[in-house]
Amino acid sequence: DKVVLAYSGGLDTSVAIKWLEEKYNLDTIAVCIDVGQPGDMKANIERAKSIGAVGAYAIDAKQEFVTDYVWPSLKANAMYQDVYPLSTAIARPLIAKLLVDIAKKEGAKYIAHGCTAKGNDQVRFDVSIAALAPEIGIIAPMREWVMTREEEIDYAKDHNVPIPVKKACPYSTDENLWGRSCECGILEDASVEPPEDSHEWTVSPQKAPAKPTYVEIGFESGIPVSIDGKKTAPVELIKILNEVAGQNGVGRIDHIEDRMVGIKSRETYECPAAIVLIKAHRALENMVLTRDLLSFKRGVEQRYSELCYDGMWFSPLKGAIDAFVDKSQENVTGKVRVKLYRGSAEVVGRSSPCSLYDEGLATYAQGDKFNHKSAEGFIYVWGLPLKTVASIKKAKKPA
Ligand code: ARG
Ligand code: SIN
Repeated sequence: DKVVLAYSGGLDTSVAIKWLEEKYNLDTIAVCIDVGQPGDMKANIERAKSIGAVGAYAIDAKQEFVTDYVWPSLKANAMYQDVYPLSTAIARPLIAKLLVDIAKKEGAKYIAHGCTAKGNDQVRFDVSIAALAPEIGIIAPMREWVMTREEEIDYAKDHNVPIPVKKACPYSTDENLWGRSCECGILEDASVEPPEDSHEWTVSPQKAPAKPTYVEIGFESGIPVSIDGKKTAPVELIKILNEVAGQNGVGRIDHIEDRMVGIKSRETYECPAAIVLIKAHRALENMVLTRDLLSFKRGVEQRYSELCYDGMWFSPLKGAIDAFVDKSQENVTGKVRVKLYRGSAEVVGRSSPCSLYDEGLATYAQGDKFNHKSAEGFIYVWGLPLKTVASIKKAKKPA
């Protein structure tokens, strides 16, 4: 039988190819999926084959990742626990979907991935695969095997699995276009400031330019389409913002995060483009959405973020919320100017053909259109319930 393996090119999934053969007698089809992480896809494919994979695919999923996963979550301003833009979390359902597609094409009965038993990613993969293809069996070698790191390296040597020569990184990281996550090593001491070497996408705010950089982002129906007036394709737009915002020290996140498995964990992230885009998108919404739609949507956003985090991307609730969010974005068109300066990204200007901001109503200067007389009547009616409560309290007071 065949197994489709989510292959990263690293030691764990390389050892897994041999282990799946030894333990389960399975032929591995290795799949490398490019969602914007560093690494050489072609070299990965060759490595997988040299270890014994019977087939190997390299899939460039960057465009699909942005249009079908990043943009929907941006429309929902998705941030887990108010700080984490869910970069890793929303890539998992896409990877699961692509693995399922290949498993069906290849007639594979199993899918395997390299997640550990203590993390969120295993839940996201397993639940997404079950939602798309309940008939496919899932194998998570790292959840099953009882090897320590040293034993794993011995296993690799014994089985002629090449050990990646990449410089030892003291952290466990995951990267895609929407962000970079970093955990383990010294970061496990939650009282210690993340060392500079744990950051790769952002310069330290202290070392960022002393002059601010301005970017103007154009949105159409909730989706970013231009930078500084220039139409920019989705993947390119995110790459540019990661670069510019990262150079200004924007996008660092240091978080004690609640994992699904009940563990609190210290995680750091670098998400320059995500931070800039979510701030800009929210600011535009504040201008074009009514007060009640805004407050209702902000509540829904939190639930939406939890669904993304919890591996529920393909759930009916998530689908229903997407329909609401899409409807809410019809007028989210306009331009937002963001000032990037030494670690901060602040919205400093916005304009929109759908703006509900009426200077004539808002102004305290000449040209005021607001009917001042109506305020008194409004306040009388608005405050009436409280006035009633107060007078009843007074009447009931014992003498
Ligand atoms: N804690 C983050 C999340 O749950 C990041 C996980 C990083 N995954 C990894 N395999 N290193 O989305
Ligand atoms: C893993 O176990 O694969 C990494 C951590 C996580 O999934 O949260």
